[in-house]
Amino acid sequence: MIHKHTLIEATMAGAAIMKEYFEKQYTISSKSSLNDLVTEVDHKSEEAIFNIIKSHFPSHNILSEESGQVIQDSHYKWIIDPIDGTINYANGIPICCVSIGLERNGIMEMGAVYNPFLGEFFFAQRGFGATMNEKKLHVSDTTELSRSCLVTGFPYTYLDAPNGPLQIFEKLVRKGIPVRRLGSAAIDLCWVAAGRFDGFYEHKLQAWDSAAGFLIVLEAGGKVTNFVGDEYDHYQPGIIATNGKIHDSLVSLVNGGEVK
Ligand code: IPD
Ligand code: CA
Ligand code: CA
Repeated sequence: MIHKHTLIEATMAGAAIMKEYFEKQYTISSKSSLNDLVTEVDHKSEEAIFNIIKSHFPSHNILSEESGQVIQDSHYKWIIDPIDGTINYANGIPICCVSIGLERNGIMEMGAVYNPFLGEFFFAQRGFGATMNEKKLHVSDTTELSRSCLVTGFPYTYLDAPNGPLQIFEKLVRKGIPVRRLGSAAIDLCWVAAGRFDGFYEHKLQAWDSAAGFLIVLEAGGKVTNFVGDEYDHYQPGIIATNGKIHDSLVSLVNGGEVK
C-alpha cells in the first residue's frame, strides 16, 4: 500500500509543477536533436518526484529520463518520465503528463499517468485492473483494423528503415484509417486502455515513455507486444498496444502486410 501511496504522491507532485509553470517563463534547450527538447520544468518535476520517492524508499533503484539511473542493491526500480509530451508542453498544448512505473524484479507492478490539464489520473496495479479517476477501464471492442481509430508517434531522429514510421503511416492513411498523433506516448497508451483508441504503435520508445502505460493497457484487458508479436519488454524500442482484437492484424501490418 505504501508503494501505491508514494507512486500517487510522486505523480501528483510532478504534475503540480507542470501546472504551476505552464503559463510562466522557463528555459528550453535541445538534447539529441534540435527538436528533442528539455525544459526547466522537466528538471523541476523530476526533482519533486525524486524527493518523494527517495524520502520513502532511499534504497530503491531509479531510472529517470533527465537524470539517468540510481543503481543500488534493490528489487525495486522506479521508472520516471517527469513530462511526457514535452514538445506539447513547451507549445502550450495541454496533452502531456507525468508517467511513473514501479518495477519489481524486472516486472512492472504498478503504473500511474496523470495529465493535470484534463484532470485525468490513470492507474494500474498488476492483477487488480486499471482505472481512470477511480473508474474501471476497459479497452474497446472493435474487431477490424479497417474500422479502427489508431494513434502513433514519430521519433525525433527519423528512422530510415523498411516498414519505418512513415511507410506504416502511409499504408494506413491510404486505406482511410484514422491515425492520430497526440505527442505523448504515455497518454496514447492510456487512451487505448480507456477505449478511445483501438490501437497504438510506435517504432522507438524509451522505457520511461511506456513503463506505466503498457501495464495500464494490459490491466484494461488489452494486449501489448513488441513489433514481432512477442511479449513486450519496455527496454526494447518497438511497441504495439491494442484492444487485443485487432492485434494480429496490426502486427502483420507493421511487418509489411496489408490492411485486412
Ligand atoms: C516523447 C513522446 C512522444 C513520442 C516520443 C517520446 P518526451 O517523449 O512520448 O509521443 O513520440 O518518441 O520521446 O520527449 O515528450 O518525453
Ligand atoms: Ca517521454
Ligand atoms: Ca520526457
